[in-house]
Amino acid sequence: MLHPDIKEVLYSEEYIKEVVKGLGSQLTEAYEGKNPLVICVLKGAVMFMTDLTRAMACDLELDFMDVSSYGAGMESSGEVKILKDLDTSVEGRHLVIVEDIIDTGRTLNSLIELFKYRKAASIQIVTLLDKKERRVVDLQADYIGVNVPDEFVVGYGLDFNEKYRNLPYIGVLKKEVYE
Ligand code: PRP
Ligand code: MN
Ligand code: MG
Repeated sequence: MLHPDIKEVLYSEEYIKEVVKGLGSQLTEAYEGKNPLVICVLKGAVMFMTDLTRAMACDLELDFMDVSSYGAGMESSGEVKILKDLDTSVEGRHLVIVEDIIDTGRTLNSLIELFKYRKAASIQIVTLLDKKERRVVDLQADYIGVNVPDEFVVGYGLDFNEKYRNLPYIGVLKKEVYE
């Protein structure tokens, strides 16, 4: 059943499953024997991270980080505020940062700077969706699920005002809902 606020489904539950499975096998091969620390950027990445890590057959550890941009709603300096830090030390660890979507690139840009400063052994980014048109900083993911058009997408972790994260598919929100 399609949620009444959704205009169209962009990626179905089945399609997402296939994409995640593919990324999982690539990551398994890349991280076999490295015991990576897989970092979920809360909250949007939570669905993707739990499915992705179940598609990874190598040993790994999980941790969570919650950040928010300063001056929400405006074009900010690109600094992020840490709302919840990792429990694990990243020094000498191989990090896999998991995101649901990359938009301006500011969130990940700041996280990468932080983890470099904290002396991670390596840092790679996996994102389910990449909205390249919106990028304002030079940032590229190492693993990309799909390139997404510049539309208001929600579901599978992605929200509008904290709503729609639980939809099993990714869809485009109707204009009248956010205007
Ligand atoms: C969204 C999304 C990414 C970030 C991408 O998170 O989940 O984390 O924005 O935007 P950027 O590339 O422009 O930095 P949000 O800050 O909305 O928090 P949420 O994950 O809790 O929804
Ligand atoms: Mn997020
Ligand atoms: Mg959000």
